[in-house]
Amino acid sequence: QHHLIIAPSILSLDYSDVDHQLDLLKRSRAEWLHFDVMDGHFVPNLTFGPDILRGFKKACPLFMDVHLMVEDPVFFAQVFMENGADLITFHTEALDNDPARIRALLREIHSHGVQAGITVKPGTPIEPFAGILPDLDLVLIMSVEPGFGGQSFMEDQLEKVKWLHRQRMEKDLPFRIEIDGGINDKTYKKAVAAGCDVLVAGSYVFKNDVISSIAGMLE
Ligand code: DX5
Ligand code: ZN
Repeated sequence: QHHLIIAPSILSLDYSDVDHQLDLLKRSRAEWLHFDVMDGHFVPNLTFGPDILRGFKKACPLFMDVHLMVEDPVFFAQVFMENGADLITFHTEALDNDPARIRALLREIHSHGVQAGITVKPGTPIEPFAGILPDLDLVLIMSVEPGFGGQSFMEDQLEKVKWLHRQRMEKDLPFRIEIDGGINDKTYKKAVAAGCDVLVAGSYVFKNDVISSIAGMLE
C-alpha cells in the first residue's frame, strides 16, 4: 500500500559535525527526518526547541517528522507547526489516553494542513484506539522506552504492528505504520515483515556509513 520510508533520527546525529552529516543525509535515500522533542518531564531527557527545527528545515529539504515526547502536546504541536513540522506525532499518554482530547488535537493539527499521528509507549495497548484510526495519517509504535537512542529493540511490540496492519487492511484505512527504537540491519526486516512502512533509525545510521546503511534497509 505505502512504499518504505526511512526516517533517520537526528537525536543520534554527531553535533560536532553537523554540516557534513546533513550533506550525507541529503545525498542519501532518506525521505524523512525524525525530530525527537523531549521536555525533561514526559521523558527524562531534553532535546530540541522550535528554532532548531526551523534551522534543519532550512538546511535540508526532507519531510519533517516531529515526535513529541512532552507533557503538553497541545501547546507544543502549535509551536512546532509554526516552525516547519510536516507531521506531528504525540503520545496518547500525555492526554490521559482520552479519545476526546486526542481527537481534538488531531483536528487542530489537521486544520493547519499538517499531518497527524499518535504514538504509544511500550506498556500502553493500542487496541483502545481502534475508533481513532480513521482520523490518522500515521501510528508510531515505540519499540523502546522513549527518552534515549541506542537501546535494544523490543520485539514484542511487533504484535501491535501486526494488529494495526490487519485493521488497516480490513477497514481499508490509509494511515502509515512507523516504528521507532532499536532499528538496525537485523531488526528492520522483522518490522517490515510485520507491516511497518516507516522506519526510524538513529544510532544505527549515524554510527555507520550514513548513505549505505539507509540504502541497505531499502533493498
Ligand atoms: C527515542 C527516540 C528515537 C531514537 C531512536 O525516544 O524516540 O527516535 O532516536 O534511536 P535508535 O534508533 O538509536 O534506537
Ligand atoms: Zn522518536
